[in-house]
Amino acid sequence: MNAIKSDSDAVGVILAAGRGSRMRSRLPKPLHRAAGKPLISYPVELLAQCGIEDIVVVVSPENGEAISAVLGSGITCAVQPTPGGTAQAVACALATLPIAPSQVVVLAGDTPLVRPQSLRNLMSDHAGCSSRRMTILSAADAFASDLGHIKRVGAAGASGRVIAIEEASERQDDAIGPAEVNTGVYCFDGPWLADMVDRVRPARSGERYLTALAAMEDGAVSALPIAWADEAMGVNDRLQLSAVETVLRDRINCHWMTEGVTIVDPSTTYIDADVAIGLDTVVLPNTMLTGRTTIGEECEVGPNSVVSDTVVGDRCRIVASTLEEARVDSDVSIGPYCHLRPAAVIEAGVHLGNYVEVKNTRVGSGTAAGHFCYLGDADIGDGVNIGAGTITCNYDGVDKHQTVIGRSAFIGSDTMLIAPVTVGEGAATGAGAVVTRDVPEGRRAVGVPARLLPQQSGSE
Ligand code: UD1
Ligand code: CA
Repeated sequence: MNAIKSDSDAVGVILAAGRGSRMRSRLPKPLHRAAGKPLISYPVELLAQCGIEDIVVVVSPENGEAISAVLGSGITCAVQPTPGGTAQAVACALATLPIAPSQVVVLAGDTPLVRPQSLRNLMSDHAGCSSRRMTILSAADAFASDLGHIKRVGAAGASGRVIAIEEASERQDDAIGPAEVNTGVYCFDGPWLADMVDRVRPARSGERYLTALAAMEDGAVSALPIAWADEAMGVNDRLQLSAVETVLRDRINCHWMTEGVTIVDPSTTYIDADVAIGLDTVVLPNTMLTGRTTIGEECEVGPNSVVSDTVVGDRCRIVASTLEEARVDSDVSIGPYCHLRPAAVIEAGVHLGNYVEVKNTRVGSGTAAGHFCYLGDADIGDGVNIGAGTITCNYDGVDKHQTVIGRSAFIGSDTMLIAPVTVGEGAATGAGAVVTRDVPEGRRAVGVPARLLPQQSGSE
């Protein structure tokens, strides 16, 4: 495992203890979602992608519990008792470590667009100079009035020496032109950081800014500018949240198109960060693929479909339907206007036509339910025909009950199956039957309540 570490003694620190007041939300800012994932997950995954396994997330007493629930085990949380600024937050993180690590990478919890390659470049630039104490990932020519500006002297552009980071709150002029901005991603010499971070004086706001360190040591501070300014975008308010979301969605769509997926209208296609899609699948307009959804190869999804946390096989067609926490095997056609709810398992070759709702039900391979019906808490065998208007009456007002339909059964139109009830293999129900008792294998039941017809001659 340690072999992939770019520095065996690098620790990642993620700052997430700020008030987040500009969001105007009851939900802590790090838990707001972009492309379906909490903001805090982005820096955590970024560090992991860059080989940093030791991670400390700085949280507040208010948001700590909710954040650590999202992070899961293996990540340390350090509590910053009051939001006294980013320098104080880093000090809280370092206080949890037994010794200062050789390298500390600091990221903000609200900057989800930084690419792994940029962080890798930053780390190797930092490691390449032994006298370096602090290396800042900056973005050149950015228009971002709420970010810190990198101040240099001497040579023009990126060759000038970094002498300070000027915070938006401290700027005299209301600079509107392009500037080199601080992305909030840094690489530090660990022992130097541990020593200096406590010496940062409070700014006018009373907070101790991590960025003040840039002015505290001549020549040992450098900034590495990256070309894409979108990586510097942070989320301080909901306008920026939606701007970040747009960039993420665009990146995700581009990724899948590069991987061999046709997206007919990227501007109305919403694919979450953790979705996977197979080769030659076509995604039609107004479609959302969310959560941990996986779509197989050569499918056609949409128009107007929502697929959430669902696994879909190959060569499926999903038209104008909503699928949630379901499983759909290969060669299935669904819709228009179907609703698959949690624990719907649709086996290979099934056809679900207009207005079919399925919940907690296995639909066996080759079965067809072509027209409006409700199939809940049922186990339906292979090759069954479900007539229009069939309902599994699974709820008696107190409890839910199961319906079992054997393979090759024929359920007549408008059959009410009063659960618990079993329709045997090869059995049939007549149109409008209200089935209150089990129908044995191969038998036919008709009427209200349904009665068994005499066995046909030749059958058992
Ligand atoms: C900060 C930088 C700014 C940079 C920008 C990049 C400082 C002083 N300024 O500004 O130069 O351009 O990020 O996005 O660092 N936090 C804590 N504890 C605190 C205060 C903040 O953990 O006491 C956390 C926040 O939750 C947030 C991060 O630190 O995740 C940055 O804080 P924020 O208030 O958003 O700083 P910016 O104004 O965006
Ligand atoms: Ca911020």
